[in-house]
Amino acid sequence: MGVRFKGWGTAVPDRVVTNDELSQTLDTSDQWITERTGIRERRIGGSAKSLGVLAGRRALAASGYGPGDIDFLVLATTTPDRLTPATAPMIAAEMGLTCAAMDVNAACSGFVYAIRTAYGLLETGNRRVLVIGAEHLSRWVDWSDRNMAVLLADAAGATVLEYDPDGTDLMSFRLGADGNAADLLTCEHGGYFQMDGKEIFRRAVRVVVESAELAMADAGIGADDIALVVPHQANIRIIQAATQRLGIDMDRAIVVLDRYGNTSSASIPLAMGDAIERGRVKSGEYALLTGFGAGMTWASAVVRWS
Ligand code: UT7
Repeated sequence: MGVRFKGWGTAVPDRVVTNDELSQTLDTSDQWITERTGIRERRIGGSAKSLGVLAGRRALAASGYGPGDIDFLVLATTTPDRLTPATAPMIAAEMGLTCAAMDVNAACSGFVYAIRTAYGLLETGNRRVLVIGAEHLSRWVDWSDRNMAVLLADAAGATVLEYDPDGTDLMSFRLGADGNAADLLTCEHGGYFQMDGKEIFRRAVRVVVESAELAMADAGIGADDIALVVPHQANIRIIQAATQRLGIDMDRAIVVLDRYGNTSSASIPLAMGDAIERGRVKSGEYALLTGFGAGMTWASAVVRWS
């Protein structure tokens, strides 16, 4: 597709909230949360802007480029700091970018949607796009609701995508949405996140498997070729069920939800950053990025690292 990833960066708040801490104020337990979700602790704090700026700066530094080299900023976020203006222009200003900047909201699929958007921008004349996923989910959590409070958290992750006619980093995409399932996961204006967790779980496994299989077929590869799965980090049991149905060993999946919980559109770049830091990303290997979330939306992409 003629693009390359040029650098990744992540950011999480300093404040660690453990399952035991939540159990002090909620009718829950470390055992329930760990067994049902895989989450052990999460980070809470900051804002979409502050976390986005940190991750964006780190990705830019890793890319070797400066603020003047970026032509477009696409921010994936479900939790912009304000309804308007979008958070992307504020991040751009803080980072010293003078380019176009906009938010994309596709919930937990948002980062792959933003990469898809960036690809379109690169195909039509932009040289480099900074893609950030940043979330301040804790702001919209009712901390007396154990259904949501144990799951959601704050973080950001970012990458620089560059146009390069010889680049083969992006092999394929399959994105989708079904607004008939809109009521399964919502947050009304001035309200809190609410979710039919069981139904989301059921549908999530299905749309991840379907979109991943189509994306792999588009890329001309099979499950055996995937060295790394970088899934949305919602629930370890969803990741296990999806990888099993895809025929991909669980040890090829990147899991960071035990440390960071569900950070929506930040979760895939957060997992990517972790994989890079641990040396799990190798040149020439294929990775599958796959997410799902409110909307419902879903998105899978096959990536080949150069
Ligand atoms: O980011 C994308 C969108 N979100 C997701 O992907 C989330 C998808 N769904 C899930 O991850 C899971 O459905 C949950 C983690 C939300 C829930 O797990 P579950 O295994 O589906 O549990 P459940 O909703 O069936 O609840 C089982 C029991 C219930 O009690 P009863 O009715 O069996 O007595 C719940 O009331 O667990 C109870 N429960 C809890 N107990 C302790 C629900 N939340 C908690 C809690 N602590 N935090």
